[in-house]
This record gives sequence, structure tokens and C-alpha cells, in this order.
Amino acid sequence: MRVLVVGGGGREHTLVWKLAQSPRVQKIYCAPGNAGIAGLAECVPIDASDVKKLINFAVEHGVGLAVIGPEAPLSAGIVDEFTAAGLPAFGPGREAAQLEGSKVFAKKLMEKYDIPTAQSRTFTNATAALDYIREKGAPLVVKADGLAAGKGVVVAQTLAGAQEAVQLIMVKREFGDAGNQVIIEEFLEGEEVSVLAFTDGHTVIPMVSSQDHKAAYDNDSGPNTGGMGAYSPAPVLTPQLLTMVEEQILHPTVRALRSEGIIFKGVLYAGLMITAKGPKVLEYNARFGDPECQVVLPRLKNDLCAVMMSVINNRLHEKQLEWHENHTVCVVMASGGYPGSYKKGMAINGLNEAAALDDVFVFHAGTAFKKGKTVTAGGRVLGVTAWGDTLPQALDRAYKAVDVITFEGAHYRRDIGQKALRRS
Ligand code: AMP
Ligand code: GLY
Repeated sequence: MRVLVVGGGGREHTLVWKLAQSPRVQKIYCAPGNAGIAGLAECVPIDASDVKKLINFAVEHGVGLAVIGPEAPLSAGIVDEFTAAGLPAFGPGREAAQLEGSKVFAKKLMEKYDIPTAQSRTFTNATAALDYIREKGAPLVVKADGLAAGKGVVVAQTLAGAQEAVQLIMVKREFGDAGNQVIIEEFLEGEEVSVLAFTDGHTVIPMVSSQDHKAAYDNDSGPNTGGMGAYSPAPVLTPQLLTMVEEQILHPTVRALRSEGIIFKGVLYAGLMITAKGPKVLEYNARFGDPECQVVLPRLKNDLCAVMMSVINNRLHEKQLEWHENHTVCVVMASGGYPGSYKKGMAINGLNEAAALDDVFVFHAGTAFKKGKTVTAGGRVLGVTAWGDTLPQALDRAYKAVDVITFEGAHYRRDIGQKALRRS
């Protein structure tokens, strides 16, 4: 089968790497891909949002499966358009992708169907939002309704911080129409965990747990990013808690959507806070997380292509997922200045030395070729991933690989996995 992966980050490199191991897959195209993906797939210079061109390409090249990585094309309805053109595509349609694309939609659904989440109020007007903030007092969390590349959430420890967030989102319209509505919600205390699940809209099969590191710097300090590293499994999610997540969150969410006439097919990602009162939903994503994908998929024993086709064909109930019992770690190396502005085009050294290390794989995120060299081309540059029998062994391998890779301005967190180590 010929497969087209849409996107060009670390998540898509991981998807391509895993799909390339499938005996069913003869050829992989990736649009637009990156310098690392080019080693495994034919990169096609079509933007992930250019649905018309992607469909034409898929038809011309006999693509039998399209896998959509990022949220923006999913929210824009790329899967509906592929399906209408007779092309099997993995991911939710536009209506189901609202679970990620509109936090107000997700919140209303959780409230209507009693799915545990932070208490909140929704506002379409800044004055009313500011009045509510004064009435409630800090800490509070302010969220833009729509997609904002992971930057639309402000965790405000002070009243002034919450007020500033409303100004930024609703008055200065930093995220455009994504800020037409804001959610103001209670601050939840606890440890975060990501639980991703495959679903065909009926059967729901969770993947192994993982934990992201959203803040830019060590000890969860600095601004939020797309994710600076991850590990799997996350011991905060005990088997008992996983059962609660399945029974109170994953199944009820898919059922609730179905009651609303929406079939969710693809990866349902629940971003959870494990609070003293149990797991609560912080956010849903309608796709694989990045960098969670980098630590979850290397642990999957199954043929990913077969799992994805069973989701598309409503046959997920026939599948059982099997997992390696190992531990995985991904350390993201980012450009100097990220998540703010940064330079591109810095030569990356040491990739071959890192590739020669055992049980290490360097997933590329923002990289490109320039004059025969691999250079930086994005904020998150590499996801240096390693596996081992134990978390300390995987960490040791990942950081040894990080040590041999250099590029000007590189920064990364040195404390990936520390929360899990503190639990053991
Ligand atoms: P979200 O995009 O909604 O997951 O929010 C981004 C990050 O903000 C989360 O990963 C949490 O670290 C934090 N966050 C979101 N909502 C809350 C909340 N109600 N209480 C505490 N932290 C939150
Ligand atoms: N790592 C969080 C996300 O993919 O949104």
C-alpha cells in the first residue's frame, strides 16, 4: 500500500518511522516532511493545509491511506474531503475534531455528559469576563476557545495575570477569531498525564501512558511550549487510575459524541490532571500528541498501518494492542529563543554519531537540507528518543545522544522524567 503522511514535525517523523516497519506499506510520501523524514519517505512540497493539492496528489499516486498528523487540517475538515474523494484517511472529521478545535464545544459536551473536568464559565464579552475574575479571585486559568498553537492557555496565579490574559485574548485579539470566546476555569492541582486512545467511534483502546513537559525550562519554569520532552510509561497513572480514565472519560466522551450524532475516528488524546478527586480533563486533542507520539509508538508491537485501517473500517473491536514492556524517553532540542522568536538555518552536527548509539532514534521536527547539510528550520528541532529496560537507562541513553548533537543556540531541558524518578 502507498501511504501519505500529512505534516512535517517530530510526530510525523515518528508516524513515518513506525509505518515504514509495516509489511503492508510499500511506499510512504510525506507532505511536507523534513530532513529526517526524507530518509524514510519521499517528501512532497505541499503544505499540510493545502487540501486540494493533497487530494490531487493522493489520487495521482494511488495512495491507499492518508494519515493526518496536525490539528489545523483536521479542524478544517481534511478527512471529510479525503473521504468524499474515496480516499481512506486516518483522523476525525471536522465535526469530531471540534473536541480540540473548540474548547467551548468540549466543555459543553463534558458538562452535559458529566465527564470530570474543571468548573468553568464561558464568556463572549471581555467586561463580563473581567467582572467574573474579580468575583472569583486567583488562581484561575484563562483559555481562548479556538486553536492557538498551544499558546491560548494562561495559568494565572494572580488577579492581574488573569485580567491581562483576557485583554490579550479578547481585546488585543492575539489569536484572532480563536479568542471570540474565552473559558475561565478553576485551577486544578495535581500531576498531568496524557492518555491517547485509538477509537473507531465505538471501540476505544487506550495506548500506554505518557507525560509531556510543556514548560520551556527545567522545573516547569518559563513559558509554555508545544512540549519539550516526554516519557512513557508515566507511573502517576496507576492501573486503578487508568480504569477510571477509561470508564469516566474515554468511553463516555466517545459515547457522548455519538449521542450528538458525531462519530469520532482516529486518536482521542485526553490531557488529564490527576487531582485528589481523581482524573479530570484539562483538554482534548484529536490526534497524536507531539512529543507523546515519539515515546508511545516505539512501544507499540502491532502493525500501525493495520490498526489505522481497522479504525477507518470500523473493525477496531477485532484488534488487541500489544506493547513492549520497556521505557522510552524523548528530549526535545529546540532553537535558541523558542518558544519566542528564533533564528533558522543553523548547521546541526553530530547526527551520525547519535544515530550510531544503541537504542536511540533521533526524530526530526524542524529541520531542512541546505547545501548538503542538515540545518535547523523550526522552533522544536529534534526529538532525541531512547529506550531501555528502566527509565534511568532510557534517560542515560537519550542524554548521551543529546550530548553528541550540537547546533548554535540549542536549548533543552535537563530534567525530563524527574517526576517519574521521584515516584520510584
Ligand atoms: P491545555 O492546552 O488546555 O491543556 O492547557 C495547557 C496547559 O495549561 C496544561 O497542560 C496545564 O499545564 C495547564 N492547565 C490547563 N488547564 C488547567 C487547569 N484547569 N488547572 C491547572 N492547570 C491547567
Ligand atoms: N504535547 C501536547 C500536544 O501535542 O498538544
